[in-house]
Amino acid sequence: MASTAPDYALLARQLEALLDSDDWLVNTAQACAFIMQQVPELNWAGFYLQRQPELLTLGPFQGKPACNPIPFSKGVCGAAARGRQAQRVDDVHTVADHIACDAASNSELVVPVMREGTLWGVLDLDSPRHARFSDEDQAGIEGLVAIFVERTNLPDHLTSQ
Ligand code: SME
Repeated sequence: MASTAPDYALLARQLEALLDSDDWLVNTAQACAFIMQQVPELNWAGFYLQRQPELLTLGPFQGKPACNPIPFSKGVCGAAARGRQAQRVDDVHTVADHIACDAASNSELVVPVMREGTLWGVLDLDSPRHARFSDEDQAGIEGLVAIFVERTNLPDHLTSQ
């Protein structure tokens, strides 16, 4: 099947221009809306934030209402949070502890968002197409997350409550 990867270099420049505030709430909202619009074949795009130790809390997203909260011990998002490593799953139904928020999702990409060596949150993308995310998509989305981190004042939610 032909690659559906968008021009990530162009998306990176557009996201840089879009994130003209350093406010984390504005930028998480804008970044997931932008990705949902620009990356084909997604049914969910959003952030989960680490606001308590070892727990992901739902943040700004686009798509259907989602599962909340997600412990680090569970699911694809939990695996990304535990290992501080991107997780790419071609068929989520083969992952025993996958958390199904929307039955339409078949593949998933989760990228950690790091702040000064600590996990701040994750960006989660779901697709109805099996094996939607290629190496190129993963590298492109990691690049967009890097721009988000660079342009955003990420508050320390773990100690500021
Ligand atoms: N499927 C995820 C849960 C989040 S939703 O897809 C929005 C998981 O297994 O961690």
